[in-house]
Amino acid sequence: MCCEGGNADRLSLLFLILAMSSRLLKVLSVFLFITLLSCQQEPSPDAVKSFESIIPNPASAQMEGGVFTLETESIISVDPGHKEAMAIATLLAEKLRSATGYEIKLEEGNIDADFVLAIVTDPTLGEEGYELKVTSEQVTISANKPAGLFYGTQTLRQLFSDKIENSVFQQGPWEVATGVIKDLPSYSWRGSMLDVARHFFGVEDVKKYIDYISFYKMNILHLHLSDDQGWRIEIKSWPNLAKHGGSTQVGGGKGGYYTQEQYRDIVAYAAARYVTVIPEIDLPGHINSALASYGELNGGTVVPIEGRYTDTSTQGMLGERSKPTELYTGIQVGWSTLRVEKEESFKFVSDVLGELAAITPGPYLHIGGDEAHVTAKKDYITFINRFKDIVKGHNKMMVGWEEIAQGEIDSTIVAQYWANEKYARMAADKGAKIIMSPSKKVYLDMKYDSTTKLGLNWANYIETDTAYNWDPATCLSDVDTRQILGVEAPLWSETVVTLDDIEFLLFPRITAVAEIGWTPAAGRNWDSYKIRTGRHGKRWKVMGIDFYASPRIPWE
Ligand code: ACM
Repeated sequence: MCCEGGNADRLSLLFLILAMSSRLLKVLSVFLFITLLSCQQEPSPDAVKSFESIIPNPASAQMEGGVFTLETESIISVDPGHKEAMAIATLLAEKLRSATGYEIKLEEGNIDADFVLAIVTDPTLGEEGYELKVTSEQVTISANKPAGLFYGTQTLRQLFSDKIENSVFQQGPWEVATGVIKDLPSYSWRGSMLDVARHFFGVEDVKKYIDYISFYKMNILHLHLSDDQGWRIEIKSWPNLAKHGGSTQVGGGKGGYYTQEQYRDIVAYAAARYVTVIPEIDLPGHINSALASYGELNGGTVVPIEGRYTDTSTQGMLGERSKPTELYTGIQVGWSTLRVEKEESFKFVSDVLGELAAITPGPYLHIGGDEAHVTAKKDYITFINRFKDIVKGHNKMMVGWEEIAQGEIDSTIVAQYWANEKYARMAADKGAKIIMSPSKKVYLDMKYDSTTKLGLNWANYIETDTAYNWDPATCLSDVDTRQILGVEAPLWSETVVTLDDIEFLLFPRITAVAEIGWTPAAGRNWDSYKIRTGRHGKRWKVMGIDFYASPRIPWE
């Protein structure tokens, strides 16, 4: 009877009750007041749905039947002097302001604020976990580390109606169902790779990519910065790499590259969203853009022998050893190689990785190592062993595709499984950490089905349920689960040209991979995922995301 109306209504009713004088009325008034207190406003169906549709599925979430309503004067408060928490609060306030038109103030140390972000000590939350408590009066996010606070704010965004994603004013009310969410990830490596070499994507597109993955609590952006078709990062000691090697792309477009300043900007933008950038320079194969820029590095590239694609445009175009090659705009793989017997090649690698290390705060450098089909096996092993020392010399940890297992690798190395179980197991046997990127499940450039216009299909057709229904802990039998760092979904860009293309191939599969990386196996269930994804489709529309309307998802 009393579940409608706000605090002002309740107060006036209370004064009325107090004014009553007879004994009977006093008894009645106490009864009325108790009823008033125990009664709370119910959440709207929309708020309930939002609470039930969180992606990735939280470790635990308990809805309590009340509602919190955002007000014009709402305040977000953080611990006094905590800069990182204030930066997270600022991002949250910006997000809330756009659609609501509300002021949303930022304060420090105000424990009565509408939103409180607090650093606490709670061993059950780990490095990235958070607790989000919503009562009708207040939203509290607590975590051991700022990363947890950030993830709590991403969950909070999802608890509001999808209208909150609008960049222009929308009519409220802005409600969140009350309850408690306690949440932390299964894996520490929850990544996606963007290939900016086959087609170049500018800084703003990369920032959008970071927005998308971080919203779903992914924390690694692997940038594939070089390949046969393009070199995409300025290297000051080898300027022709970017200038010439970056001057084209698949199909012959003008390509492009990031200046070191732009790269730093991407890294900082990612860091503010708790995403670590892992730069990859693909070595010793996939290297034509460098060989075209500096002929002395050319180890004698040859006609393709077992490429994945049927493109034969490389036949006959390849140069002699130590002579510059032509720039390449096709999509064949496995035909170029760095020159092993020249010390100059290792100086090149050290200079490039040294400059990258200096502008990459994250602990990893990725050296590629895949599909070096025209590098002799003994040369390949020499390369990997020397790359390992070079990366260590620059105080970073080496990551490489599974083929690096052929080198002398150990527990300081990270190997990325993509196709060949034998190499991935060999890497694990040598003690390396493993990232799971099975191409049959999570290569996001694969077509959804035979009718998909974009993408390739050499690994598989990957519908959303295929991307969802697998488990990193069991996908490689015999590998000790303690060696598995997590998951990564690569987006190769042979056919991907625009941000719309990226979005179409990412959604709704990237969210499947985000959930696999975050949610424990017991909390993952396709029937639940597809319903929650169907609801996120509305949010993606508001966000302007051009997603694939998979027939396997019941879209709302
Ligand atoms: C790869 O797909 N060549 C790692």
